[in-house]
Amino acid sequence: MTVRHFLTLNDLSRDELRGLIQRAIELKAKQKSGDIFEPLKNKVLGMVFEKSSTRTRVSFETGMVQFGGHAIFLSPRDTQLGRGEPIEDSARVLSRMVDIIMIRTFEHEKIQLFADHSQVPVINALTNEYHPCQLLADMQTYVEHRGNISGKRVAWIGDGNNMCHSYINAAKQFDFQLHIAAPEGYLPDAQIFADGDSHATLAESPAVAATDADLVVTDVWASMGQEEEQTARERAFTDYQVTPALMKLAKPDALFMHCLPAHRGEEVAAEVIDGAQSVVWDEAENRLHSQKALLEFLIG
Ligand code: CP
Ligand code: NVA
Repeated sequence: MTVRHFLTLNDLSRDELRGLIQRAIELKAKQKSGDIFEPLKNKVLGMVFEKSSTRTRVSFETGMVQFGGHAIFLSPRDTQLGRGEPIEDSARVLSRMVDIIMIRTFEHEKIQLFADHSQVPVINALTNEYHPCQLLADMQTYVEHRGNISGKRVAWIGDGNNMCHSYINAAKQFDFQLHIAAPEGYLPDAQIFADGDSHATLAESPAVAATDADLVVTDVWASMGQEEEQTARERAFTDYQVTPALMKLAKPDALFMHCLPAHRGEEVAAEVIDGAQSVVWDEAENRLHSQKALLEFLIG
């Protein structure tokens, strides 16, 4: 049997993704009702973090505990991964011991290489290019608040980064229209954009992207690993803040999402992220429920 990985949203079919979102909603209700459900008893998740994390680490670790399993946090500082042991060897060894592996790293090729040598499923917990787990939570949150996202209009305001790329994948898989407003020099990867078929388009300004949107999404201007570009990026992105005026162009019942951590006064105004249209706390919580659905699906 071939091992299923979750490196991008394209690793699952449209039906599988829809099923996962429904399952996440069920698992959330189960958890809230106090129902003990431990399908992963004695199963172990290995969590490799080469970048910082709050939500991803806590949601995966909590999810495994709630499922009756266990999670091991592995950082390059304290493992041989940080001392140059080849990725292929690390993958071979770790996958003989644990049942599933989650990795947050830099280049997407690294996680691809790891997955190629792993006997167990590998989950992308963020690379420079993609953040698919976040999209599961975002899609669950949209469905919970507004129902089916198919046919809806989504505005991406800001950097053409890992989150933007996963939104492009999601537009195709969940069948919505994505309007991206990004400054020159910070556009999404051309190939990933092209692979979104006609589900993603470039808008000439944030106002154009946000007009009539059902959902407005943004992310930090400088991602992890780009700290030294902060000042240059602040200049390039000055006109790309999600403000109350921008939200007014969207549909009256439009939602606002942000994967977090957020910088109020940079990519988003405090009045927006802390306002009535923002669903960022549900979105963060849903990392837990949607990843539990993913773990259950991949371990089977
Ligand atoms: N959104 C997200 O992935 O958050 P963390 O970096 O805290 O894991
Ligand atoms: N684009 C951000 C997302 C953080 C969850 C980053 O890569 O740092």
